[in-house]
Formats: sequence, C-alpha cells, structure tokens
Amino acid sequence: MTVKPFLQLLQDSKPPTVPPIWLMRQAGRYLPEYRATRETAGGFLNLCYTPELAEEVTLQPIRRYDFDASILFADILLIPQALGQKLWFETGEGPRLTPIEKAEGLDGSDIMSTLGPVIETVGRLSKSLPAHTTLIGFAGAPWTVATYMVAGRGTPDQAPARLLAESQPDDFQSIIDVLVEATIEYLCAQLEAGAEVVQLFESWAGSLKGAAFERWCIAPVAAIIDGLRARGFNHPVIGFPRAADHDMGDYIARTKCQILGLDTFADRKALHRDLPKEMIVQGNLDPLTLVEGGAALDAAIDAIFEDFDGRRFVFNLGHGIVPQTPPEHVAQLVARVRNR
Ligand code: CP3
Repeated sequence: MTVKPFLQLLQDSKPPTVPPIWLMRQAGRYLPEYRATRETAGGFLNLCYTPELAEEVTLQPIRRYDFDASILFADILLIPQALGQKLWFETGEGPRLTPIEKAEGLDGSDIMSTLGPVIETVGRLSKSLPAHTTLIGFAGAPWTVATYMVAGRGTPDQAPARLLAESQPDDFQSIIDVLVEATIEYLCAQLEAGAEVVQLFESWAGSLKGAAFERWCIAPVAAIIDGLRARGFNHPVIGFPRAADHDMGDYIARTKCQILGLDTFADRKALHRDLPKEMIVQGNLDPLTLVEGGAALDAAIDAIFEDFDGRRFVFNLGHGIVPQTPPEHVAQLVARVRNR
C-alpha cells in the first residue's frame, strides 16, 4: 500500500518532518493551462459540469507540483443552482444569482440531477490521481452560501444576509435548513464516489459574532458533520471558518471537525497556545507573499514551521491563490516546504 502523506498525518500522533501540502484554488487562472482549458469549455460553469475537463484542470496543479492533496474542481455556488436558483458568472466580476429571501422556490428533491457531473468528476479523479495523492471534496458552509443566495452576488460586509437573519430569522432559517440537507446529500455522494476528505468553506464566518455565529455558522456545520456520520461516512472533515479566531474553541468542540483551516490573519502563536494539542491545523501563508516570492516567501514559510512547532499541520495558504501568482513561486514554495 502506498502511503498517502495527507491521510497519514491523521493516523500519527506526532508531526512528520515534512507536512503534507496543498493550496486552496490550486487549479485556476494563475496557470496558463487552466486558462486554455476554460477557453475550450466556453466558461467557468461549463468547466465545472464537464467531467473530463473538470478532471483535467484538477490534475494540472498535481502534474506541476505533486501536491499531497488534490481538491475537486467545482464551486460552492453549484448547490444553489441545483436547488433551482439562477446562477451565472459575469466575466471579471464574479458570481450573480437571482436574490431570494426565503426557502420558497428552492427544491431540494432532485439536486443530484444537476450535480451528477461533479460526482462523475470525483469518480474519474479517484482513478486518475497518483496513488499517494489524497482527494479532497468540498462544499460551502451554509451561512457563506446563503450570503450569496440572499444578496445575489458577493458583498463586502454580507449586509443583506445579516439583515435578513436578524429581521426575519425564521425565513433565513428555512434557507439554512435546505442548505444543510442538500450539503449532506452532496458530500455523501462525493465520499461515495471516492473523495477521502471534505472541506467546508466558511469564507464569511468573520461577519458573525456571538449568538449569530453559534446559530448560523456553528450549528449548520455541526448538523452537516453529524449528518455524514449518521449515514456512515466517518471521513476527516476540514472546517475553515475564515476570520473567526475568537470563536475557534467553540467551533471545533461543537462541529467536531478533524482539521481546522486558519486564514491569513489568524494569530498562529495564540492559537497554537490555546487549541487542544491534538488538533490539526491547516494554513495559513498569505497568498500575497506567494505573489511576492523570493526571500520574503522563504521567511514566511519558516515562520509557519516555527510557530506550529510540535503540532500536526497541513501546509496551505490562508485563502485561495490569486490569479497574478507566478507559477514558479508555487514551485519555490513546495521545494522549501519539502527540503528545509
Ligand atoms: O480550490 C480549488 O482549486 C477548487 C475549486 C474551487 C473554486 N471555488 C473554483 C473557482 C473552490 C474550492 C472554490 C470555493 C469558493 N467559490 C468559495 C470559498 C473559498 C473562497 O474563495 O472564499 C467561494 C466564496 C466561491 C464563490 C466564487 N467562485 C466566487 C466569489 C468567484 C469569483 C471570484 C474569482 O476568484 O473569480 C468564483 C469563481 C471561481 N471559483 C473561479 C475558480 C477557479 C474563477 C473562475 C474563472 O476561471 O474565471
């Protein structure tokens, strides 16, 4: 049996000398071969829904850098689309959806008829990836997905969703409930098709505090992970509540995620001091330091190793790779992490 360094990390109680490494958005516009394949597909959503092309772009960064994990190529907004909400991507502007204020009109009865091609991509990858590469599936966490569903687009402060959650909590809860059920079904299908780990992206965790954070971030993620376990899927889950440093203790205790993703601005020293010793963390190199490269990149990598000394961690960025990243800086990063 070939060892998979990513999965091995979860088996061992001590950190390895070289941590497993993968990067959020490791497939994407910074790679010329990605841009070429997207052109062939005729747009981002076509790329997500065409299994052979989605497989190809998932494999591109693996061929270049031999990462320890490969993340399925898809998007967190495919679930709203599968629920019947209209979704499109404006070139250079990001996602657009027809905004909603309650669950009425969302139909969770047949999401797999839309998401089937994504599951086919997972099945293909589980056969085509190198034997030592771990396949990570994913979904958006309900709060983050709902912020796009309610606003109809990305927003700097998530104001439309926050306002709806405050002023009409029952309506907002109905949206979250539909998302929890759909996400459980979608992630179970990914795991059944060969995903070995799943990550829940909560990009907008930082816009909620206190009781709102408990209700809209922690409770839905806990319900999803419980739902996977109840259906017999005991695979590791990576929780990524971005910009929620203050609430990390509660988040891991209640969601029972196995790996905690840390964003770019997470206070590594404080978290290393305060989190349970056995908790595995993932992160948190600044994507802009990867753009910069050179000595600054080496120093930032070394600082992460020092700050997490003695703890098991997965090397990653604090958020996704940005399009202006020079591909050779990614090669520098991987070499430094593996040959320090
Ligand atoms: O990490 C990976 O390589 C896997 C694929 C992946 C994508 N999006 C591909 C993508 C994953 C895991 C995501 C997650 C995602 N999608 C999140 C959570 C993580 C985060 O970045 O905060 C969010 C909020 C989305 C929604 C989304 N998709 C936005 C806001 C945008 C526009 C911003 C942008 O970067 O263009 C997307 C588009 C998107 N998703 C692209 C990719 C490669 C770029 C599309 C293109 O090729 O033009």
